[in-house]
Amino acid sequence: EREPFSQKLQVPEALTFDDVLLRPKESRVEPDEADTATRVSKNVEINVPVLTAAMDTVTESDMAIAMARHGGLGVLHRNMDVDQMVAEIERVKRADELIIRDVVTAAPDQTVRDVDQMMDKQGVSGAPVVDDDGQVLGIISGTDIRPYLEVGEDDAVDEAMTDEVVTAPEDVTAREALELMYEHKIERVPIVDDDNRLIGLVTMQGILQRREYDTAARDENDRLVAGAAVGPFELDRATAADEAGADVLFIDSAHAHNLNVVDSAREIKETVDADVVVGNIGTREAAEDVVDFADGVKVGIGPGSICTTRVVTGAGMPQITAVSQVADVASQHDVPVIADGGIRYSGDAIKAVAAGADAVMLGSYFAGTDEAPGRVITMNGKKYKQYRGMGSVGAMSDGGGDRYLKEEDEDDEFVPEGVEAATPYKGSVQSELHQLVGGMQSGMGYVGAETLPEFKERSEFVRVSAAGQQESHPHDVMITDEAPNYSPDGN
Ligand code: XMP
Repeated sequence: EREPFSQKLQVPEALTFDDVLLRPKESRVEPDEADTATRVSKNVEINVPVLTAAMDTVTESDMAIAMARHGGLGVLHRNMDVDQMVAEIERVKRADELIIRDVVTAAPDQTVRDVDQMMDKQGVSGAPVVDDDGQVLGIISGTDIRPYLEVGEDDAVDEAMTDEVVTAPEDVTAREALELMYEHKIERVPIVDDDNRLIGLVTMQGILQRREYDTAARDENDRLVAGAAVGPFELDRATAADEAGADVLFIDSAHAHNLNVVDSAREIKETVDADVVVGNIGTREAAEDVVDFADGVKVGIGPGSICTTRVVTGAGMPQITAVSQVADVASQHDVPVIADGGIRYSGDAIKAVAAGADAVMLGSYFAGTDEAPGRVITMNGKKYKQYRGMGSVGAMSDGGGDRYLKEEDEDDEFVPEGVEAATPYKGSVQSELHQLVGGMQSGMGYVGAETLPEFKERSEFVRVSAAGQQESHPHDVMITDEAPNYSPDGN
């Protein structure tokens, strides 16, 4: 005897951001002091709980560098070939490295004029002088060159260079390098191996630049953290991204509870050293099928601003309920949860954390910033940037149809699950992130939690009616000045 069909309509309720609010609680927490450090995956920690989406109108290396410098994580999209992705990952990992590895060098028999022009062209103010074998013979800087400029331009570099070079080994720390610079009144320290061969260079300017980003998200070697999306069946991309130094790989599937995706994700996890986050999922059962191997799980079936998955396929899960169900299971296995999609305001982001997320991923919120790929376009006097779903026709034609389990070389027309759109131009990532994280910290203040783990435990929801929702937004007024963190149609 099967259950009557009508029984199917005895349905559980599933809620999303606007359905709930955080219940204010007694507090002594000053928002600015609220600590936003969290984990993206079992082994990757970041300082603000924010990730940018792996979308070709959101995250390439510029975005990933900016995000990591300000404490978050950018996840590189995969609508590029594997070599390109490797170069993008390397760019992020090298961005604020203490040791510069692509060093401009001079040869001892070059003329002073030649080196002067070369340094000028490369935009550096000094260069180690190395022989054919890579051995460091000296170092030459503007100060060494200046006396030669009028009368000795044709002299060889080894005449003009400083030949007593202070060098350091590869494991030098920023502090040790600074001490050497102070002691010897120099600004550059070549890094050499045991045979005095050049490996790289540490500069005073580089150290000072790193200081600017004191809350940057860095790996154990002090390099910026980088995330990369890989297709569910792209073992080759996963291996290459891992070798290039990505800290976290994100299995990029619209339905990771497809068991072929689960099998393949498991194989990828067994092959790479990087952490592997599996997504997207939206139910307890899906979480149960991946928590035994995943280093993190990502939640979101159709909440995204450019998604049409729910309309096209009839399937989906309102996001607050989805996050809470997945978090029920994941938290028991100490697996971090990322809430991906549908976040329009900082309030949504902190609600996601209350529902059990450790971090949030956003697309539309950051797509209008300078660091997102693509140029600014002007329509009717207003500035916009392109933003498109990775399941849109345009993005799928550029690769990545396998996210939606569609063959890339199918001759048939795609059945898209996303739209192509424009989003208002917003300026720098830094100021957007500042508003987002600041709003989240204020939410922590209302609940009286100093850290995100504490906030997850302490926060409680109340249910909001349609009238309540209306009351939440500005009402009965005409907005005259734009707020940096609010616009009626999402931020
Ligand atoms: P937001 O709301 O932040 O959402 O713009 C970004 C997330 O949306 C997902 N995504 C898609 N979902 N069709 C979908 O159903 C699409 O074409 C599409 N493209 C991106 C993705 O999880 C992203 O992080």
